[in-house]
Amino acid sequence: METKRFIVDNNSNCEKSYTQAVDLLNNGEVVAFPTETVYGLGAVATNDEAVKKIFEAKGRPSDNPLIVHIGTMEEVPLYIEEIPEKALLLMKAFWPGPLTLIMKAKNGCLAESVTAGLPTVGLRMPDHEVALTLLKMLKKPVAAPSANRSGKPSPTKAVHVEEDLQGRIPLILDGGATGIGIESTVLDVTVNPPVILRPGGVTKEMLEEVAGEVIQPTKSQASQASTPKAPGMKYTHYAPEAPVYLIESNIPKVRHAVASLKEQGHSVALLAPSSFEKIGADYFFPFGDEGDLEQMSANLYDDLRACDKTAATIILATTTNNDGVGAAIMNRLEKAAGEKWYKE
Ligand code: TXA
Ligand code: MG
Repeated sequence: METKRFIVDNNSNCEKSYTQAVDLLNNGEVVAFPTETVYGLGAVATNDEAVKKIFEAKGRPSDNPLIVHIGTMEEVPLYIEEIPEKALLLMKAFWPGPLTLIMKAKNGCLAESVTAGLPTVGLRMPDHEVALTLLKMLKKPVAAPSANRSGKPSPTKAVHVEEDLQGRIPLILDGGATGIGIESTVLDVTVNPPVILRPGGVTKEMLEEVAGEVIQPTKSQASQASTPKAPGMKYTHYAPEAPVYLIESNIPKVRHAVASLKEQGHSVALLAPSSFEKIGADYFFPFGDEGDLEQMSANLYDDLRACDKTAATIILATTTNNDGVGAAIMNRLEKAAGEKWYKE
């Protein structure tokens, strides 16, 4: 299959591109499109055969449910059995935006493979002009996981989607680099207080301002059987070929680590703030300005993918604290590193 890539931005005449995307989706095909978090691989969420093509193209385990994207608030009651009061408040505050709400699904409204047999479904309204235009033209819900091959970092650029899914999908809408760069916060509102199943751009603090207490399970709580989970969180994710080690964001420490690894014969890739550029790593991929978490989350996956194109035998990545969106960044970094920290 030939994979087309259409650039859709404010400057080009994109009417035709959207029409082709809508036609493909209506014909039961999959289409990749940008959201404010990462690129998604979409199919009409009421068409089971179409949704199955997502799992096929990604190589995704079929027990991992998909997020359903909608373009208007009016659609929520079409797919949700009961909308908790807190969910309404959160939708009003954060939609469109990087917040997925897990609620009880209405029976038989969405394709079976979307929910992977669960009684619940995750809904979100993306805050991206291309995604919203597509959803509003289509007037149907779109099931969409991140548009990467399973086990690869989520795509933040159309070229990442091409790298992973070239020949496997018919169309990519290219809206440039995504803004946030890590996936949405997944919040289970079927329980009270609500539980964060995956940290993201909408932080615990932001949620609590609107909906009161919210639980963000610690790592040990998250591994307990009684804690609600996102099925996807059990799969390994985001890991580059070379082993990744976390290290404190401290120039003398990192300089020392790089030197000693090189002495041991390693070729070292370093992911760190821009100010770490000249400390001697063989390959350097900047997170952006020191302490700027927005730049760090926007660059993280692109940097991890770039490491895979080098001959590095080891990757060092500097960390941040767990405050605000730092929790989401550290969650992804820890996964990429398999929780390994550099030790002298
Ligand atoms: O930002 C995002 O959320 C992106 C863009 C494309 O919207 N999508 C995304 O989808 O990251 P995906 O499939 O890569 O991750 C969805 C996560 C998985 O960990 C999945 O297990 C969890 O959400 N999830 C989906 N439905 C669920 C449900 N009913 N209950 C619990 N977890 C659910
Ligand atoms: Mg994903």
